Amino acid sequence: MAVSFYNFTDLHHKGFREDIKSRISKIIDDGSFVEGEFNGKFEKEFALKQGAKHCLLVANGTDALEIALAAHGIGPGHKVGVPGITFYATAEAVLNVGAEPIFIDVDPVSACMCPESLKRVMKEHTINAIMPVHIYGLPAPIKALEAVCQPAGIPIIEDAAQAQGTFVDGKPVGSTNNFVTFSFYPTKNLSAFGDAGAILCQDDELATIVKTIRNHGRGDANRLGRNSRCDHMQAAVLDLKMKDIDGYNQNRKKIAAWYNEALKELDVELLPEHFVESSSWHLYPIKLANVDQRVGLQEHLKSQGIGTTPFYERAMSQEKALGGYKGEDSVAKSLAGRLLCLPMNPFLSKENVKEVAKEIANFLS
Ligand SMILES: Cc1ncc(COP(=O)(O)O)c(C=O)c1O
Repeated sequence: MAVSFYNFTDLHHKGFREDIKSRISKIIDDGSFVEGEFNGKFEKEFALKQGAKHCLLVANGTDALEIALAAHGIGPGHKVGVPGITFYATAEAVLNVGAEPIFIDVDPVSACMCPESLKRVMKEHTINAIMPVHIYGLPAPIKALEAVCQPAGIPIIEDAAQAQGTFVDGKPVGSTNNFVTFSFYPTKNLSAFGDAGAILCQDDELATIVKTIRNHGRGDANRLGRNSRCDHMQAAVLDLKMKDIDGYNQNRKKIAAWYNEALKELDVELLPEHFVESSSWHLYPIKLANVDQRVGLQEHLKSQGIGTTPFYERAMSQEKALGGYKGEDSVAKSLAGRLLCLPMNPFLSKENVKEVAKEIANFLS
């Protein structure tokens, strides 16, 4: 039985298609292509849902990170702590604003930024901001990171690109006093019909700065911005998908629990059970003994029609464009390459999960 990684067909079900067609038709009739009524509606409702005072839609998740950094005045001459394992965009955003990424090592279990590593790195470098990532949807240890950063006045920008549906210390991601950024790329839990992103924050003044930056600095004669407005169609899609998102995220939790049960006797490393409730389960990663075993398993599953992704094959410092930056990342390097993400989408059945587990067992035996 083939098991695909994503399922865009069931996500865009018949009822959704009918509703979105009529919304797009209205957008065409009104000629309201950029920043229309659904932008405002979504921003209000998403802020409320995630526990933030402000939600500002932007063009994509990378822009959200860059604008968040710029709003905090981060630029040339500054150093920003990023986890040793993440998607390129986190470190790329730091470089795009002219600052220097400094690697902070990750926890060997969750692959999230390690507060102890941050403390060590801070002895060597003056860090001006950190960007912990809720990687795979797992909650980064925000309270512990705040305990390190707050006394030094270091702002935290949480990269929640993979974390819509995550609970951080029992509250929806976005409820802290930090900037929290999202990507709504089509593969994300809450997804648009193309690129879109958002910044959540509690601070009125910084929210105004974000609004100014995303629209060419308009409204502030002293500031240059950029174009990072969000298309009205993307906001209309996001607003409509909000109706289904809680149910879909519940399904992901249920599927993660099924995987945990089906894989528990096998010789692969699983995430601890307590993450079932707190993670958004954007991805379901397992750890293999070494890179060769991961490559072999991936090939075997592919031959059986089972889709997987090796997020992440390399630590950030092992990417050519990011080599040479400082910090520490030995745990990140030892994890990279051993991680394999199994099919995860809200429409998987228990039979699908059993099939994946059966093929993993076949490979390991
Ligand atoms: C952790 C992380 N940060 C940032 C981004 C960037 O988001 P976007 O692709 O919307 O620019 C992504 C997207 O995949 C991501 O996974």
